[in-house]
Amino acid sequence: MENRIRRIAVLTSGGDSPGFNPCIRAVVRMALYYGWEPYGVREGFTGLLTGELVPLTSRSVSGIISQGGTFLGSSRNEAFKTPGGLREALRHLNEAAIDALIVIGGDGSQRGARALAEAGFPTVGIPGTIENDVYGTDISIGVDTALNTALDALDRIKDTASSHQQAFLVEMMGSKSGYLTLMAGIAGGAEMICIPEVPFTLEQVAAEVADAYVRGKKHCIVVVAEGAKPQAAAIADYLREHQEETGFGVRLSTLGHIQRGGSPTAYDRLLGTRFGAAAVERLHQGVSGIMVGLRDGQLVYPSLAEVTEGTPQIDESYYELARVLAR
Ligand code: F6P
Repeated sequence: MENRIRRIAVLTSGGDSPGFNPCIRAVVRMALYYGWEPYGVREGFTGLLTGELVPLTSRSVSGIISQGGTFLGSSRNEAFKTPGGLREALRHLNEAAIDALIVIGGDGSQRGARALAEAGFPTVGIPGTIENDVYGTDISIGVDTALNTALDALDRIKDTASSHQQAFLVEMMGSKSGYLTLMAGIAGGAEMICIPEVPFTLEQVAAEVADAYVRGKKHCIVVVAEGAKPQAAAIADYLREHQEETGFGVRLSTLGHIQRGGSPTAYDRLLGTRFGAAAVERLHQGVSGIMVGLRDGQLVYPSLAEVTEGTPQIDESYYELARVLAR
């Protein structure tokens, strides 16, 4: 395939994450290094359906390495998932004479990449999502920046929680995965961590809060993943109703999309750059239908089939460690 590629396209899809831009930059400049013509697809799979493909030069990606978000735009596109959507996408790729595609995004985006690859279009995936819920890689682009943003918020909340002797529910992003919440909880010294992967009850949260009070803590920080059941708002209501028993006043803070923005950390710039360059190198070697990932510090290339069929797990020993250290 190596000699067949003249023109490649890159798109970013799904929830954006800090590090997408350094990754696009690496794809574009690596493609130029091989003498290929790089194109950008506007707004993810939506741009494939509408044929919004724009030529990119080295200058198109100047200065984006330090910027959060994605300068190409992103979207969550349901129409692409239909047979008609896939057909339109292939038609626009062929009309623009694109020979290969690189898809940067989370789990859903890798499914889109797989659909294209299985339809015969050379496609390589790159994992990018703050949730860290893509199977086949230890870490995705954006996780480190989001974690540091969440941690900064947690430290600030802790200051005021201590001053006012409060129990704080801090809701973090993660609709399916508790990874971000778990890691922020450990690094931020939370008293309790509530994530979708570990069952818990309202009574257990209230007992932990009451226990923290009895042990003489000045605050009680409970980090709650967006996808935890019960959800942060329900926990806050329950704790308010049982305030007499726990001893702490109750506040709820939702970090939300703040975690998705901001300048990428050094780690995410390096990860995005490595992933972007490796994706182009794979295509240059004639390899597609794979995702670039990182396992034990090494670049790996699982098939898109493996990536989209696997279920990422959190390491529950971290959860146990957090419990021990919260005493
Ligand atoms: O990118 C993942 C994520 O941030 C989830 O944690 C969250 O549930 C979702 O995206 C929010 O999506 P939207 O940007 O559409 O509000």
